[in-house]
Amino acid sequence: MGALLLFLCLLAPFVLACAARGRRRRAAAPACGKALPLPPGSMGWPYVGETFQLYSSKNPNVFFARKQNRYGPIFKTHILGCPCVMVSSPEAARFVLVTQAHLFKPTFPASKERMLGPQAIFFQQGDYHAHLRRLVSRAFSPEAIRASVPAIEAIALRSLRSWDGQLVNTFQEMKLYALNVALLSIFGEEEMRYIEELKQCYLTLEKGYNSMPVNLPGTLFHKAMKARKRLGDIVAHIISARRERQRGSDLLASFLDDREALTDAQIADNVIGVIFAARDTTASVLTWMVKFLGDHPSVLKAVIDEQEEIARSKRSPDAPLTWADTRRMRMTSRVIQETMRVASILSFTFREAVEDVEYQGYLIPKGWKVLPLFRNIHHSPDHFPCPEKFDPSRFEVAPKPNTFMPFGNGTHSCPGNELAKLEMLVLFHHLATKYRWSTSKSESGVQFGPFALPLNGLPMTFTRKD
Ligand code: HEM
Repeated sequence: MGALLLFLCLLAPFVLACAARGRRRRAAAPACGKALPLPPGSMGWPYVGETFQLYSSKNPNVFFARKQNRYGPIFKTHILGCPCVMVSSPEAARFVLVTQAHLFKPTFPASKERMLGPQAIFFQQGDYHAHLRRLVSRAFSPEAIRASVPAIEAIALRSLRSWDGQLVNTFQEMKLYALNVALLSIFGEEEMRYIEELKQCYLTLEKGYNSMPVNLPGTLFHKAMKARKRLGDIVAHIISARRERQRGSDLLASFLDDREALTDAQIADNVIGVIFAARDTTASVLTWMVKFLGDHPSVLKAVIDEQEEIARSKRSPDAPLTWADTRRMRMTSRVIQETMRVASILSFTFREAVEDVEYQGYLIPKGWKVLPLFRNIHHSPDHFPCPEKFDPSRFEVAPKPNTFMPFGNGTHSCPGNELAKLEMLVLFHHLATKYRWSTSKSESGVQFGPFALPLNGLPMTFTRKD
């Protein structure tokens, strides 16, 4: 229940702005001449809308699924003062995210923008967004990341050694692993001088992400904003040291090796933004993988067989993994896909209509939030038979276009997806070949923080097989 409150708190900063816009909207006429109807659905009570219904459903996905069953793949609602249109068909999600993406801008609470940095990629559209995207995408392309397999492997082995024989919080440990890989991909292996302080500042900043945006001494928000300032200073130091010497193939090198140079502040906002984008997402998927494999022994056995076969094919037991090895991990890759489908950790994303938009005879009014519901699409029996069943073999055949979007779709889709898959494959190679793990059955359940997670972060004991 507390977790659901957190989910609602994430939406809270939208409230005042949305309420004001909602009032204006009721007085406005449709732009296209003929009076188009709004999508079906209920706007609930004045001001609070359907916030209580969402709250009492305990799980936002249950609320969304119920609405879809009642009204179909496009429906309106009103949550925490925001009029919203939710879309749950592949066609509608493509309309919003791909073909008519210019009509729907990304939208985040102002406090999130302040913390991550207003010049970070997520908040942008147009030329500046395209420029950033080119720099970020080239740093995380397969060509750029393939050489980092040994360094990622070293981080994975270090993590696994530190868990050996201990009862650990799987999610917290996966977060640490994902943070270390993110820092490697941003700064390369040489910036160790500042990395520990950078990590500490990031952890303080992270604690403030979901706090009330009250900037008074002693509050989490205040501490987070101080850490944010220090992070900017550290990144500026690293940038000036980097400008003096040869550059690598990491994200910072991509930012610095650019004719239309970014300012230090733009680079800092995007470094912090990438850490934010890379960490909890990857860690949540890894945690669900551990859970699903533990719950499905025959799938786990197939993964172990595949990974042992790769280990046997190496010249010696200590020979490092290569990019080519990871391309042979087909079964493990299907487990990653099925984990991302079943868990759908990003149940939806937010956009805001920049003008009145017509979709299939309905009006989506300017200023309304528009939420493509990824999870509903991933759990539709029309696209994935027996959708609640964990069955990686369904990915032996490619899913139909626009039905599988764990990394989003269109102009803002995830540029880190290859890196995320790579770090999951590398960790699971060693986990499956060298460790066994056990969880307590009483721990089953889901929490939202704000991503869906196994209850209490999945406490687990990992033990070396030998
Ligand atoms: C399994 C792990 C991950 C998942 C499920 C995931 C998912 C997503 C999704 C769904 C979006 C699009 C959001 C939207 O359209 O509103 C996105 C955007 C983004 N992701 Fe990821 N992500 C993951 C890992 C990563 C990693 C490892 C990085 C970087 C190293 C990264 C960097 C980004 C960035 C920078 C964006 C913003 C792109 C833009 O606005 O143009 N992500 N991610």
